[in-house]
Amino acid sequence: MSFIEFRNICKKYENAERNSVTNFNLDIEEKEFIAFVGPSGCGKSTTLRMVAGFEEITGGDLYIDGKRVNDTAPRDRGIAMVFQNYALYPHMTVEKNIGYGLRNMKVPEAEVKKKVDWAIRILGLEEFRTRKPKNLSGGQRQRVALGRAIVKNQKLFLMDEPLSNLDAKLRVSMRNEISKLHRELGTTTIYVTHDQVEAMTMADRIVIMKDGVIQQAGAPMELYDHPVNKFVAGFIGSPQMNFYHVTVDGNELKFRDGNKIGLPDEVVSRLGGKSGQMIMGIRGEDIKLDPASQKSFEADQQKAVVENTEVMGNENNLYFTFGQSLTVARVSKYEVRLAGDEIRFVFLPNKMHFFDKDTEKSI
Ligand SMILES: Nc1ncnc2c1ncn2[C@@H]1O[C@H](COP(=O)(O)OP(=O)(O)O)[C@@H](O)[C@H]1O
Ligand SMILES: [Mg+2]
Repeated sequence: MSFIEFRNICKKYENAERNSVTNFNLDIEEKEFIAFVGPSGCGKSTTLRMVAGFEEITGGDLYIDGKRVNDTAPRDRGIAMVFQNYALYPHMTVEKNIGYGLRNMKVPEAEVKKKVDWAIRILGLEEFRTRKPKNLSGGQRQRVALGRAIVKNQKLFLMDEPLSNLDAKLRVSMRNEISKLHRELGTTTIYVTHDQVEAMTMADRIVIMKDGVIQQAGAPMELYDHPVNKFVAGFIGSPQMNFYHVTVDGNELKFRDGNKIGLPDEVVSRLGGKSGQMIMGIRGEDIKLDPASQKSFEADQQKAVVENTEVMGNENNLYFTFGQSLTVARVSKYEVRLAGDEIRFVFLPNKMHFFDKDTEKSI
């Protein structure tokens, strides 16, 4: 038995033409940090709200800690939630805000104080405890919202895009704080985000959804290295994986613009006898401009003219057209070239992904 069990969970909103969530099956173990990720409208919040009890489950069964909770009231499910639009009480200080829920539940005052002090310490809010929300930064307010959730001492945290309102730098630091908090408290967490970077950096396991259907669930690097389909391959990773319409003929890979690359036997055998038209995907970091890689794959060296560059120092992207597709190669600072420069590069053949051109499933 897992801590949370989703069994064929479906959601069809009243008046909606189709399901917002369809046959969602997942087991979550105690202490896991799970991220639900996917584009806007794919059903992440709906699924989370069904766990919380704010949305009726219209099909399937949901178990928390061995108990079927489909008909259990939200307050009896043992959950604490943090949303994007957390509303702090503007007239209350930080400590009052954090303790409000407990006082509301008639928890004895000494206990409230102990819990609030603990939360304030763990979230580094000591200096701000008597401030009101309007005198706090966005990150501090978000920490207060987290404080309100953690003092409740529930067995499950649900977070719905809690960092979306923060600026980029703050998002990075809060990301680390939430991870640290999870390590310290060990509370099972479901974290909803449309941002694959948040999912990759925070989660033990990622559940990636599209149109209300789970595409793949697995550890971040499992999804990155072994995507089950083109959608997952394209969603996880930045810059996006490059895709090409290709034809495989024996050991030859042919691009639409006539360029050819030799495929090593191990790649051909990975294709299990499949040949003909398919989609080839390769990540920007597996298109190489460095001398050592060029030498290893000399016979299959390719040429292109750089159209655009993004130079950030540690991350450098060269954009060019190859095989009739816009291509991005991610290079080290030693291989940065400028727009207009002709480059020579090689594809690492064993890093290629292949997808069926119709089903877009991984081959
Ligand atoms: N209250 C509602 N009534 C009808 N349809 C809804 C309602 N809430 C969400 N939806 C629809 O359900 C789908 C999933 O929405 P949502 O779970 O909010 O997606 P996400 O959180 O992944 O962006 C969308 O197509 C959305 O329009
Ligand atoms: Mg949402």
